[in-house]
Amino acid sequence: MANILDGLKLSKQIKVEIKQEVEGYKDNGLRPPHLAAVLVGNNGASMTYVDNKIKDCEAVGFKSTLVKLSDQTSEKELLNEIDKLNKDDSLDGFIVQLPLPKHINEEKIIMAINPDKDVDGFHPENFGKMALDMETFLPATPFGIIVMLERYKISTVGKDVVVIGRSHIVGRPMSILMSRKGNPGDATVTLLHSKSKNLEEYTKKADIVITALGSPHFLKAEMIKDGAVIIDVGITRMEDSSKDRGFYLAGDVDFESVSQKASWITPVPGGVGPMTRAMLLKNTMLSYKRKIK
Ligand code: GUN
Repeated sequence: MANILDGLKLSKQIKVEIKQEVEGYKDNGLRPPHLAAVLVGNNGASMTYVDNKIKDCEAVGFKSTLVKLSDQTSEKELLNEIDKLNKDDSLDGFIVQLPLPKHINEEKIIMAINPDKDVDGFHPENFGKMALDMETFLPATPFGIIVMLERYKISTVGKDVVVIGRSHIVGRPMSILMSRKGNPGDATVTLLHSKSKNLEEYTKKADIVITALGSPHFLKAEMIKDGAVIIDVGITRMEDSSKDRGFYLAGDVDFESVSQKASWITPVPGGVGPMTRAMLLKNTMLSYKRKIK
């Protein structure tokens, strides 16, 4: 039976560390870090994510601002809002929750964010810095996975790592971070995606498999090798009237079978998700420290 990579427990520990750091600054008469989140429309999952981000800020002593805009907001209005946030000196960072309504061009919005306040690490300048090993805001999910491997002392050096999914915010940056120098890093990386053929040929040989597909229970025990490390980024809401809340959250990994064969595995929920949340706080802290220097 695999050991659990307990992202929930680790994220709580990291939040305590951040809170202590914030208290230290406050004791020295400094203002707390300040994060803003922009939510456009009323996508259920996005509303939950943004609520959680605001709650996380409160938990560690950050100031937070929620900018809630209607789904009728035009691209121009949103760009104006971003301009205000870019110019707001009291703000260390902000995020624009994705996905945006169809009539708004996400690329244009991301490009409008001041890279120094882009604590999601989505702006091309920050993505480029990440790819070039320069200090910057790392995208929260890959960053959370890196920190999790580090804290659990799981080495990636010389390991065969398979990443499934090439999204701009998870798979693509994950593959870059795993291949860069250092530990975590120094891995031999294969990036699989929807057009890849014979996925099992790759997953079966992998020491570490990171799935970011959004395809419930996709990865089965027969697709991995004995003792592999399994990181499940997938989180899909499955309607189920037998559950208290009327749904449950499913990962990309068939946990029941895969956990019998893996050496380490992240649960869903309670694995990668809480780590992602904690890394947004870390990025905000980094921005704060740059500003108060
Ligand atoms: N939508 C899904 N994940 C994220 C994220 O990390 N940041 C933002 N802004 N939107 C998202």
